[in-house]
Amino acid sequence: MKIAIIGGTGGQGLGIAIRFVQAGEDVIIGSRTMEKAQKAVDKVKDLLDDVENLKAAENPDAAKEADVLVLTVLLASQRAILLSIKEGATGKILMDATGPLETAIGGSLTRCLYLPEGAASERAQKILPDTNVICAFNNISSGALMNYNEPIDCDCLISGDNQESKITVAKLIEKIPGVQVVDCGPLERAQIIEKITPLLIGLNIKKSL
Ligand SMILES: NC(=O)c1ccc[n+]([C@@H]2O[C@H](COP(=O)([O-])OP(=O)(O)OC[C@H]3O[C@@H](n4cnc5c(N)ncnc54)[C@H](OP(=O)(O)O)[C@@H]3O)[C@@H](O)[C@H]2O)c1
Repeated sequence: MKIAIIGGTGGQGLGIAIRFVQAGEDVIIGSRTMEKAQKAVDKVKDLLDDVENLKAAENPDAAKEADVLVLTVLLASQRAILLSIKEGATGKILMDATGPLETAIGGSLTRCLYLPEGAASERAQKILPDTNVICAFNNISSGALMNYNEPIDCDCLISGDNQESKITVAKLIEKIPGVQVVDCGPLERAQIIEKITPLLIGLNIKKSL
């Protein structure tokens, strides 16, 4: 399976790229610029031995070439990036990791935003009506993903309206050691899944003070 990570140069995208490369999938790291995508590919090649199943591309080309897409950009960039890949994403599956957060994870604020469309993944589905959007990877941290020599002791909550796409996605995600997928139901359940993340981040920050 050829997987494009759209916005794959950030923390979450790079971690997912590494895990799918390790699983033997063909991975394309997408970026707004080829230079940045290539830098991310070079970084992964420095970390892992003998990587041949990884390449760089600009987001629209990555989307066109791949069978399955993963979106890992901040909420503020979600609409523009989705519009830029609309043609390539048509008829395909897109796993959306977008969190409805006011700032990036790791920032001082992790306040939840309440979107008129419901969940960020529901917004993605409205922008790409001819793509099967699945909410995924929201509750797995980039830290866990980047700790690539260790299994991830965490379930991956997913939701979506197309059962076949969820089965495809679950098979891919469960190639990551330690991860079990939990199908939480229709896409609208993303409204709950996506909000677990800011809650957990807030609790972790409180605990560590
Ligand atoms: N980090 C986590 O632990 C975690 C966990 C669960 C969910 N998530 C979600 O995953 C998504 C990505 O998080 P992240 O931590 O990987 O974010 P990040 O490090 O800020 O990376 C996001 C990527 O988005 C791209 N991008 C597109 N348009 C942009 C713009 N206008 N300004 C800046 N960057 C832009 C950038 O790639 P190019 O510059 O190469 O185009 C950047 O590398 C978020 O929605 C977040 O809520 C993150």
